[in-house]
Amino acid sequence: MSTHKHYTGLIERYRDRLPVSADTRIISLNEGNTPLIQLQNIPRLLGKDVTIYVKFEGLNPTGSFKDRGMTMAVTKAVEEGSRAIICASTGNTSAAAAAYAARAGIKAFVLIPEGKIAQGKLAQTLMYDATIIQINGNFDQGMALVKEVAEQAPVTIVNSINPYRIDGQKTAAFEIVDDLGFAPNYHCLPVGNAGNITAYWKGYKEYATDRVCNNRPVMCGYQAAGAAPFVAGKMIDNPETIATAIRIGHPQSWESAWAAQKESGGWFDKFTDDQILAAQKMLSQYEGIFCEPASATSLAGAMQDIVSGTIPEGSTIVCTLTGNGLKDPGSAIKQCAAAHPVTIDASLDAVKRAILDSL
Ligand code: F0G
Repeated sequence: MSTHKHYTGLIERYRDRLPVSADTRIISLNEGNTPLIQLQNIPRLLGKDVTIYVKFEGLNPTGSFKDRGMTMAVTKAVEEGSRAIICASTGNTSAAAAAYAARAGIKAFVLIPEGKIAQGKLAQTLMYDATIIQINGNFDQGMALVKEVAEQAPVTIVNSINPYRIDGQKTAAFEIVDDLGFAPNYHCLPVGNAGNITAYWKGYKEYATDRVCNNRPVMCGYQAAGAAPFVAGKMIDNPETIATAIRIGHPQSWESAWAAQKESGGWFDKFTDDQILAAQKMLSQYEGIFCEPASATSLAGAMQDIVSGTIPEGSTIVCTLTGNGLKDPGSAIKQCAAAHPVTIDASLDAVKRAILDSL
């Protein structure tokens, strides 16, 4: 018998812990199984004795963690006979919905805030051939419309208010524990609509309850300063941030995110766009890992709390990097505008000079 084991996605891997049966047709793009990468240079730069891992979710098939939830949500939508799915999105959910709908052979409708989603996300969603409905409004308004329209049209909502999304996304916590052999002391992640913090906490709790591990992490939820309802303790009407993925003021998973924070003994905090971009650049420059701005909020938070001692030395920390940097080339190029690439003659001499000049 062959000893090869072809990885075919997180539903197959964690089928015992997910609501599927032997007959379920699984809609998958082999998502999950993302690398848990230990940071080597940033802890040294911080001057602290901590172990930091990043869970690089940008390496999922559509470049974000949304694929974990979408494989489950679309699998169940198809199983229940749905012919169309719908979501509101800041870009990543729409890309994932479009891809999994394409895979399943059903239709995807996506509502996106006009002019406020990163270029790569728009390109993907166009290519996967979803029907894009741009609104003159933000994510929160799009979400409200999606909930209303789904009551009147034959479409299945695949935002994270769909419980199957949370089930799929909880597998990221399983993978971390399976990789490390234990749960980290702290789990840091960006919070927008708050589905992901809900999902990780569900996954960690499930593994601890079933004694797969003995511990559970403290959950640290970090937001952009202009879109920080959990820090304000109330919903925000006009969220603003360069991290467009988390430009959300009315998170749908409000109660469950508070439960994660309280039950785990964790906290919420907020970071300015400059702090978020600085963390994104550090990760690229010192570790060779390029994530999108929203994702770097997790590291911005972890670094601050490590330096202040809120996260003590000796801790093991996992930061989720929710999306790939290639999703948003515009913000990266803008951020690095000062580092103009030089243009020279196509001659050996000129290339040699350019190298020697910058050594
Ligand atoms: N990071 C990225 C890259 C995201 O795309 C999102 C959410 C989050 C973090 C926040 O996760 O909503 O579970 O708290 N993006 C959604 C979307 C809203 O439409 O793509 P959350």
